[in-house]
Amino acid sequence: LHVVHVASEMVPVAKVGGLGDVVTGLAKAHQQSGILSEVILPKYDCIAYAAIQELRPLRSIEVAFDGRRVATRVWSGVVEGLPVTFLEPSNGMFWRRQFYGAPDDLERFMFFARAALEWLLASGKQPDVLHLHDWQSAAVAPLLAEEFRGRGLTQPRCVFTIHNIAFQGWMTPPLLSKVGLDPDRMARPDAMLDDSRPGFAPGSHDCSLLRGAIAFSDRVTTVSPTYAREVFLPEFGMGAQAILSRHRHKFSGILNGIDNDNWCPEADPFLPAHFSAADRAGKEDCKRLLLEELGLPYTTPNWVLQRQSGGQHQQLQLQQLQQHADQGNGNGNGNGAAARPGRPLLAVVSRLTEQKGLPLIEHGIKTALARGAQVVVLGAASEPDVQRRWEDMARDHGSGPDARIVLRYDEGLAHRIYAAADAILVPSFFEPCGLTQLIALRYGTIPIVNRTGGLADTVRDVADGGVPENARNGFVLNGREEARVQVAVDRAMDAFLDANEWWRGELVARAMAQDWSWSRSAADYLSLYRGAL
Ligand code: ADP
Ligand code: GLC
Repeated sequence: LHVVHVASEMVPVAKVGGLGDVVTGLAKAHQQSGILSEVILPKYDCIAYAAIQELRPLRSIEVAFDGRRVATRVWSGVVEGLPVTFLEPSNGMFWRRQFYGAPDDLERFMFFARAALEWLLASGKQPDVLHLHDWQSAAVAPLLAEEFRGRGLTQPRCVFTIHNIAFQGWMTPPLLSKVGLDPDRMARPDAMLDDSRPGFAPGSHDCSLLRGAIAFSDRVTTVSPTYAREVFLPEFGMGAQAILSRHRHKFSGILNGIDNDNWCPEADPFLPAHFSAADRAGKEDCKRLLLEELGLPYTTPNWVLQRQSGGQHQQLQLQQLQQHADQGNGNGNGNGAAARPGRPLLAVVSRLTEQKGLPLIEHGIKTALARGAQVVVLGAASEPDVQRRWEDMARDHGSGPDARIVLRYDEGLAHRIYAAADAILVPSFFEPCGLTQLIALRYGTIPIVNRTGGLADTVRDVADGGVPENARNGFVLNGREEARVQVAVDRAMDAFLDANEWWRGELVARAMAQDWSWSRSAADYLSLYRGAL
């Protein structure tokens, strides 16, 4: 089987969010089971070139676009052992120092879709499956059906994965002609046109690339079974409910996995200390060192003191710790009891955007701080108003001994936070799958999540009697009200502070023992490909 992923992201060379993790993780898992897996990616100027091996120019092709022929250089390289083709148009479309966010994103990615097909044709390759991801590569499906099959690309079936239905690639029909799609044929309800939207006015932004890919692909998937049900509801489907219903027979949800080589507490090169499910002492070292890195004080829990000291020093050290707690540095329940769990560390690692439940993140942070926890946030905002809001949060909450709010994208710091934290907050309003909770579990960090999409499929409340005990791995809230996140964070804090031995001994071990690797889902995609063939 020969599978070519056409994608706008892949780790570690081009990542904005989970899409990049999924493309590499899935392709690698398939490669390991003997499938020829390749990726086609734009050659952005902001790519992490150091992570590409054997990068070399292959040849130049011409891609018809907007009435011109654009000379496009084709490069080959190897990323994480995967063969990758990079497409670099000479008109500088991908030299923008950013992956997304340019005013002509629609044109750039439609061009990319056409260039990918033009390259496949020129190379003589006939992959069995073209796996497309989100609107950025969606134009491949109608272009293949309308033009490239007729020009000889006869073999490939198209599989389209929706990672996030909020992004659909809306446009006016005339724009489609730039890439060689016939606006009259595409501006039909059975193709790209949505005439069911309130206020529909022909000629406005009423066509979407997402719809085109749904209509013209052989299979359509999304990234979790729950999200695959939710998208039929107006609040989640964002206008795509009707077209998905029409194509329901070829639509399904396959849960994302994570790449266990990349997210590996035993050997993660970004970590200052390592740990495993069997020996978790290194996790506490990661916590101490992260707090040090961020200039936050660290409170030694008494189990560390017990381990470090011989019996006669233990008493003394506990007394010192007691004084420490009484001076206000303790865990907030400074009642002098012998059990001193240290301070819980709550983390957020997220794109800061509405989807992620921003008001709930804020409220959860405040709740945790009020309980004496420490908080670390790593977040990147792309909207200026969100950026300003979080700069205010950083000023108001992130400069003392309790919290740090780091507003940037930082891969290494993300790894260190997953390793160091006790809990991670993911109260998303909607979440097609979510990888942060899966990564966190792998590092023994307990997720506090909203019950939606992939979060609902992967995190089960510690009190959920409806599932076996070893499936209960976190704290689940349900809804968008602040009170809900408050209850969930409070429960997590109670569990940590009052039952730290259980948290450390059982809950963390249970979380780390769960398998969220690609093995099962990669096999599910394989059966899906085979079904399409
Ligand atoms: P989404 O794709 O919607 O952003 P996911 O949970 O699927 O959400 O994936 C997010 C990915 O991006 C994870 O690998 C997470 O670690 C990473 N990530 C998110 N924000 C940051 C950040 N500010 N710095 C580094 N990595 C981040
Ligand atoms: C999207 C979704 C996220 C998902 C990721 C990878 O960015 O927001 O939930 O995990 O894609 O599929």
